[in-house]
Amino acid sequence: MKSIILIGYMGAGKSTIGKALAQKRQIPFLDTDIWIEERQGKKIAEIFADEGEEYFRKLETNMLKELKEKVQTHVIATGGGLPIQAENQILLKEIGVVFYLEVKKETILIRLNGDKSRPLLLGEEKEQKIERMLKIRHPIYQQFADFCISTDEKNVESVVEEIEKILENHTDFRR
Ligand code: S3P
Repeated sequence: MKSIILIGYMGAGKSTIGKALAQKRQIPFLDTDIWIEERQGKKIAEIFADEGEEYFRKLETNMLKELKEKVQTHVIATGGGLPIQAENQILLKEIGVVFYLEVKKETILIRLNGDKSRPLLLGEEKEQKIERMLKIRHPIYQQFADFCISTDEKNVESVVEEIEKILENHTDFRR
């Protein structure tokens, strides 16, 4: 069976929703950022600071190639920038069905208030940074995903339910 892949901007709830969905489906959960951190022995913020973003993006692509070969039927939460690269998009579609968890700027600001772990949102003008990135990324996420789900003002359980309903109608995932 294929994997269930969650994409979307930072703060969309990919990891939290992914864990809950994996538990409900009784399949393992994998978070691409955590996979990279464990392999590198460093936090994402340290990788960005020491080696730079380009290096991190290469790690993401290499990880996907490895996942494609080795990993079977997981719920996979991806880093927010991972599905932006065309090469990664091809790999993701080979690995599983893709859900875009959509989130508004206002919700992101609340959810990531005080967060220091996302290097792309550190420093001044956080709101403008989010706005600029969302403008570029939202259409890419939307076009690439098999299904889009808005997560604003919804709790984890209701988003999991929405995903479950879609999967029930999907021949590869019906239980
Ligand atoms: C990034 C999102 C982060 C992490 C890195 C870059 C991005 O993951 O991969 O900081 O480019 O949007 P989350 O989406 O899990 O925060």
